[in-house]
Amino acid sequence: MNILILGSGGREHALAWKIAASPLTDKLYCAPGNAGIAQEAECVPLDIADHEAVIAVCKEKKIDFVVVGPEAPLCAGIVDDLEAAGIKAFGPNKWAARLEGSKGFTKDLCKANDIPTAAYKRFKQASPAKDYVRAHGAPIVVKADGLAAGKGVVVADTVGEAEAAIDMMFGGGLGAPAWEIVIEDCLVGEEASFFALCDGETAIPLGSAQDHKRVFDGDKGPNTGGMGAYSPAPVMTPEVNKRVMDEIVLPTVHALKAMGAPFKGVLFAGLMITEDGPQLIEYNVRFGDPECQVLMLRLMSDLLPALLAAHDGQLKNFDLRWYPDAALTVVMAANGYPGAYEKGSLIEGLDDAAAVDGVEIFHAGTVLDRSLADGARILANGGRVLDVCARAKTVREAQTRAYRAVDRIRWPGGFCRRDIGWRALEREN
Ligand code: AMP
Ligand code: GLY
Repeated sequence: MNILILGSGGREHALAWKIAASPLTDKLYCAPGNAGIAQEAECVPLDIADHEAVIAVCKEKKIDFVVVGPEAPLCAGIVDDLEAAGIKAFGPNKWAARLEGSKGFTKDLCKANDIPTAAYKRFKQASPAKDYVRAHGAPIVVKADGLAAGKGVVVADTVGEAEAAIDMMFGGGLGAPAWEIVIEDCLVGEEASFFALCDGETAIPLGSAQDHKRVFDGDKGPNTGGMGAYSPAPVMTPEVNKRVMDEIVLPTVHALKAMGAPFKGVLFAGLMITEDGPQLIEYNVRFGDPECQVLMLRLMSDLLPALLAAHDGQLKNFDLRWYPDAALTVVMAANGYPGAYEKGSLIEGLDDAAAVDGVEIFHAGTVLDRSLADGARILANGGRVLDVCARAKTVREAQTRAYRAVDRIRWPGGFCRRDIGWRALEREN
């Protein structure tokens, strides 16, 4: 089969690495890709927001199956448009992608189906929202309804902070003025992520992970797309995993099917593991980045038949095999990220780093510079630039391997956290 992956981050590099290894893959393409993905696939320069251009490339390259990485094209209906053009595509359609695209939609779905989540109310205007906050008290959580690149949530410790967040969101502080916000109770517990592969009717677990959203060690500093992750999450015991499937994931899949919007693709549940059990914080409708990288390192089975089975509604009785090991990834980012950063700094030592036992390096934002006569160089080309991943028997050993590899990379223009995995290590000790 000819496969096209859409996206350009570490998630897509990890997917390309697995899909390139499948005996079902004849030719692998990725659009737009990056310098690391180019080692696994032919990269096609393409604006993936231009669905007509994506369809034209699929026809030209005789693509049999498209795998969509990021949420923006899913929420914009790329799967609907590809399927309408007769091209098979992995991921939810626009309707089902509302699980990520609209927090209000997801909260209402949870309420109607008794799926455990924080109590909430939806607001279209600032003044009733502020009345609610004043009546309710703090801590309280204020969320913009639509996609906000991870910036649409404010966990407010005081009523004043919550009021300021309401004004900020309705006042256009997230780019455009929010047309609706959700205000919900603050959940207390340990956060974890859970992934399931869904075929519209049923779902199979893909495992759990924990990420590190803040930019600096000790979970300090501003939020990022994720500075590292590991899988599995120790807080996700077999009992908790089963409860998440039975109480959250499967009821969601059944509810969407009953609404006429069957969900096919990866359902990524952001969870709070509270004293009363797992509660849903939010859904994403895709693999996490960098969580995908650690899941792919642990997946023993061929990924491609599983994605095809999800697309074809054939997941019932489908089985995936996993290494019993832990996997951990350290994200290396350009100096200044998540604020302003420079592109184009030179990265060296990657081959040396990749030679560390159990290590796999995925590129998140790199570009190949062929301008010099004496060979190509890898340059940084984004905020998050490299995912240095390792698999081992324990999180501690995976962490040791990953940082051994990090220390072989010569990149003065970049930095990383040095404490990825701390929560799991506390439990291992
Ligand atoms: P989200 O974008 O919905 O994942 O929210 C971003 C982060 O805000 C989450 O990872 C949590 O740390 C926090 N958060 C969101 N909703 C809640 C809640 N109801 N209670 C406590 N923390 C929350
Ligand atoms: N790392 C979080 C996400 O992919 O949304």
